[in-house]
Amino acid sequence: MNNLTPKRLLVTGGAGFIGANFVHYWLQNHPGGRLVVLDVLTYAGNRASLAGAEGRPEFRFVHGDIRDEALVERLLREEGIDTLVHFAAESHVDRSIAGPGAFIDTNIVGTHSLLKAARAVWLDGDESRPGHRFHHVSTDEVYGSLGPNDPAFSETTPYAPNSPYSASKAASDHLVRAYHHTYGLATTISNCSNNYGPLQFPEKLIPLCILNLLDGKPLPIYGDGQNVRDWLHVEDHCHGIELILESGRVGETYNVGGGAERTNLQVVEGLCAVMDELRPEDSPHARHIEFVKDRPGHDRRYAIDERKLRGELGYTPVHSFEGGLKETVAWYLANEVWWRPILSGEYREWVGCQYGS
Ligand code: NAD
Ligand code: DAU
Repeated sequence: MNNLTPKRLLVTGGAGFIGANFVHYWLQNHPGGRLVVLDVLTYAGNRASLAGAEGRPEFRFVHGDIRDEALVERLLREEGIDTLVHFAAESHVDRSIAGPGAFIDTNIVGTHSLLKAARAVWLDGDESRPGHRFHHVSTDEVYGSLGPNDPAFSETTPYAPNSPYSASKAASDHLVRAYHHTYGLATTISNCSNNYGPLQFPEKLIPLCILNLLDGKPLPIYGDGQNVRDWLHVEDHCHGIELILESGRVGETYNVGGGAERTNLQVVEGLCAVMDELRPEDSPHARHIEFVKDRPGHDRRYAIDERKLRGELGYTPVHSFEGGLKETVAWYLANEVWWRPILSGEYREWVGCQYGS
């Protein structure tokens, strides 16, 4: 059973999409503790996403790599960290197809470095800490792909990762599990579905399409657009992680989902409908939809069975997909100052031209 009230957090990847949302969520709901972000600021990391946290006495940003074991050990000791929440990763499937190496280095080697540092300080050190938690944030993609009538992924679904990204996340999950079983590290793992919401790097489907619509560019839909994802608002995900940190059973895995299965075409048509409402002068936005060549090995369907998280920890997502999508579009419309600097030459060279039409 969990016997820890998380007070002093190390959040890896806190300048990324979910990590930054988690930082804001945590500081708002748990004032007075300590929260240290460790982030190396890859193309996906953005210090501007942490603007609201900088300057708060509880908050510290450290620019560094999760693979720097000595740095992580030092932070765990000098900050008296009791809870490590591990978001840092290479997270984009298309990039893993183009170049898997960075995914192996960050997601597998990086997670292993963190585990080694946590073990050294929390289990083997002079000041070993009986109350500690290593929470690993993972993905539903480790379970592979579902057919249209298959039951949703549960925590006992066998692993069957299909992309270099999901294979690297699966390997990291296994390492976390092994450090619990072998060394007694107090770990938990969450495997969640596709997140959406504010601060998401615009290479992922939803923000990519919003920004393309604002710039009058095509909306690239891979294949027939019938692939299904189970959409989870990032704030609901943060709440799920909070419940796991506070009351989750050590050594366990919890799936987190949004209960909102949609085809990619439905998602993009939904975005276009929101834009028709908010920017009627450019209607109909759906005329920008373009079907392009499919992603290699494209998983057909993901869906999450979250009965364990609901039953054990009382989790309930509060955002409806349609409401959350509208709020997300409104956030991007109001926050050009956040996304405009991202649209550099490197970004345009990469995004939208992987598979062509
Ligand atoms: P992201 O790509 O937006 O952010 C990743 C962050 O990690 C960036 O800030 C980056 O700078 C940092 N980072 C990368 N390598 C690092 C290193 N070596 N050292 C320190 N920092 C490093 O990712 P995200 O979408 O916020 O995803 C966060 C986590 O959630 C990932 O582990 C991902 O696998 C998982 N996940 C994401 C989703 C989703 O829909 N986005 C769904 C399921 C699981
Ligand atoms: O399921 C959880 C996963 O969700 C996370 O582990 C990953 O980190 C995250 O990137 C996400 O993976 P996906 O591959 O599902 O997300 P992405 O936004 O890249 O794509 C969503 C769907 O939309 C997918 O079926 C591919 C399709 N797609 C994507 C892009 C970028 C398009 O049709 N066109 C596009 O331009």
